[in-house]
Amino acid sequence: MTRRPYIVGNWKMHGTRAMLSEARAIDRAAQRHMKVEVAIAPPYTLIHPIHREAEQIAVGAQDCHHEDSGAHTGDISAAMVADAGASFVILGHSERRTGHGESDALVRAKAGAAFAAGLKVILCCGENTATRESGKAVAFVRKQLKASLPPAEQLPAELAERLTVAYEPLWAIGTGTPATTDDIAEMHGQIRALLIDLLGAEQGADVRILYGGSVKPDNAAAIFAVPDVGGALVGGASLTADSFMGIALAASEPFEN
Ligand code: 13P
Repeated sequence: MTRRPYIVGNWKMHGTRAMLSEARAIDRAAQRHMKVEVAIAPPYTLIHPIHREAEQIAVGAQDCHHEDSGAHTGDISAAMVADAGASFVILGHSERRTGHGESDALVRAKAGAAFAAGLKVILCCGENTATRESGKAVAFVRKQLKASLPPAEQLPAELAERLTVAYEPLWAIGTGTPATTDDIAEMHGQIRALLIDLLGAEQGADVRILYGGSVKPDNAAAIFAVPDVGGALVGGASLTADSFMGIALAASEPFEN
């Protein structure tokens, strides 16, 4: 099955209510690009206001806690973000893994909790510069992804609808220079093979794999032409409707991944 390209904006720690007008503009533009699935993950504080107004785009969270509730000051559970209007959550982003010491085991527990709360999950993986330079990027990412995926009994039946993988090499995030299309092709091919191994031919072939790391309107078309790229997870360029929808426009040209 060929799925719609999936273009997700990760606003990271950017955005106050002043950004609601940008979300509105993204939502309006998304209504003109129905061949593309457009979503944004704003800070927690904006999930509900954006969800309340959005007609086309999905709204998600950038993280959640692995437990439903409890004495965890400052944390937010999967059920809470779902209640606020989130339909998905980004988990295992490298900024969580490095900035908050999140292990593969914790990411796996969070993914299990998110599925149990009815959310879709965008599961991130990616290697740092040292691992890339040591020639071990593929082995690292395969191991990280395998260890971050919940066990089979915690995976929902309609898995390809609920799970997306995002490959985000740390050395390409926020640098202005994405990975080369050759590097993306190699890693996405490896991730696809692993997903087929772990989830079976049908589901494994259908889960979308996004690329993230300095995706911009002017490099998006080349990235989307790479086999097994199902869309993009976009940071900086998702903060204005103009640049974000420039990327969505590149994805609305027919592409077969
Ligand atoms: P940039 O698009 O700013 O490089 O960020 C990528 C990213 O980390 C998205 O999750």
